[in-house]
Amino acid sequence: VLAICGSLQRRSANRAALDVVTLALTGQGSVVERFDHLAGIPAFDVDQVDAPIASVVDWRQRIDAAEALVIAAPEYAGGVAGTVKNALDWLVGSGNLYRKPVVIMSAGTTGGRHARQQLAQTLTWQGAYVIAEVGIAHPRAKSDRDGRLVDATTLVALSSVAAVVSSVPTMRADDLVSAATRVARELGVDTAHIAPAA
Ligand SMILES: Cc1cc2nc3c(=O)[nH]c(=O)nc-3n(C[C@H](O)[C@H](O)[C@H](O)COP(=O)(O)O)c2cc1C
Repeated sequence: VLAICGSLQRRSANRAALDVVTLALTGQGSVVERFDHLAGIPAFDVDQVDAPIASVVDWRQRIDAAEALVIAAPEYAGGVAGTVKNALDWLVGSGNLYRKPVVIMSAGTTGGRHARQQLAQTLTWQGAYVIAEVGIAHPRAKSDRDGRLVDATTLVALSSVAAVVSSVPTMRADDLVSAATRVARELGVDTAHIAPAA
């Protein structure tokens, strides 16, 4: 599992959410790799799409190597953090997201519905299956002094998404499509773009 943090902020609620999911996943026997280097990915440039840019090559390889992705991204000004959208744009031509199961989260003031909606839309447009999603509103009020999420309801929601990720190896192609369809409907994303079952 590749767990991608969409915030560059040192004390990040999205990273704290990933910490909880990572712990749950490793407890369930999954191997989790954290990706916290979005700042190293340059601005997307179609002219450079086939260039051997080390950070982009590494990014694509990590996506390919993962059986599932977990993306936690902040919402800024009513949209998903630009660093995340930028990194995802580098995957369009190389098709790394096609039929990749992805879980999305957004921790932030409102719970980041716009960020989750936009993430689900762009991931779906690239053929990924967004199989679960969670928003965490007012994360500071749900965290301890060290920024660790401690709110019981939030921990339950995060352990449910971890359970979905752990179930990926046992999910059939139709299960992925059904889960992606449910999430797309929840978030108001056009289901017509969901990739057909493998
Ligand atoms: C520039 C900026 C814009 C923001 N816009 C939104 C927003 O549109 N919706 C929202 O829910 N929170 C917004 N926030 C608050 C963030 O959700 C909050 O800072 C969150 O903790 C950021 O994620 P992080 O802690 O993982 O870095 C904004 C914060 C910043 C710095």
